[in-house]
Amino acid sequence: MRHLLSTKALSRDEAISLLDIAEDMADVANREVKKLPTLRGKTVVNLFFEDSTRTRISFEAAAKRLSADVINFSAKGSSVSKGESLKDTAQTLAAMGADGVVIRHPASGAPQVLAGSGWIDAGIINAGDGTHEHPTQALLDAFTIRRRLHDGASRGRGLDGVTVTIVGDILHSRVARSNLWLLNTLGAHVTFIAPPTLVPADTSAWPAGIGYDLDAAIDAGPDVVMMLRIQAERMNAAFFPNSREYSRRWGLDDERFARLSSHSIVMHPGPMNRGLEISSAAADSDRSTVREQVANGVSVRMAALYLLLSGDREDH
Ligand code: CP
Repeated sequence: MRHLLSTKALSRDEAISLLDIAEDMADVANREVKKLPTLRGKTVVNLFFEDSTRTRISFEAAAKRLSADVINFSAKGSSVSKGESLKDTAQTLAAMGADGVVIRHPASGAPQVLAGSGWIDAGIINAGDGTHEHPTQALLDAFTIRRRLHDGASRGRGLDGVTVTIVGDILHSRVARSNLWLLNTLGAHVTFIAPPTLVPADTSAWPAGIGYDLDAAIDAGPDVVMMLRIQAERMNAAFFPNSREYSRRWGLDDERFARLSSHSIVMHPGPMNRGLEISSAAADSDRSTVREQVANGVSVRMAALYLLLSGDREDH
């Protein structure tokens, strides 16, 4: 694998293989075993043009647990604020000998541009581009679902027949898009639930059900309920009903949480707007995987860095 830009391009075998490698990495990721020497001598650059807590820190932890050197770059405080282009930034990183670049950018397609540009000869990982994709988030979500549902026997398995209801701001969510493609590839059935104003105009090619009624979706007893963050920074008032109305109709509040099927798990990629899309009781319950998702992110990102930087590299 040369780059990891999208889950849409991953085959089922590739996705399962990555999740299995993440299983192999878990003891190191969780610091039960010392770090591995696998990427000693390699340099990974975290190139973040948008804010991040989980993704940036977990890529840093993942790279360090594989013994890579890590350079953290934030657009804030860099020469980007003086107008430096992506090309000149990339060429600067190339001159410093970056072997891998983890990029988050507000423009959809920026990681693809970087990967195809010839400005830098490095493995590129998309850490979230605009409203397009966030592939490692979807991979860690799939890893988390697989572990919860297959309980210690998840290696080699997909998510065949698993029902996943994804709720909220689908329009602006790169997490929703990456999960759509990956979960479908792994055999899961995805349903999106959202206010009509937060569903993209054309979803006819999406392998997912679309609905607007969260109560009906909960009564259907899905295996997974994944709540999404309302991305206020990407929308104007026309898209958003208002906080009270949103929470009443599309929030996983205490009453809906109490009605969930006994086997359903609750997910959220973070950061959460508590009291808006998810109540604290739901977020902090035993059925919530929020903290597991964060921990699993290190294993999955170790697997992605390993695949890109340690050996065979094919384009995706
Ligand atoms: N889930 C996620 O991408 O979180 P961060 O924005 O904190 O990286």
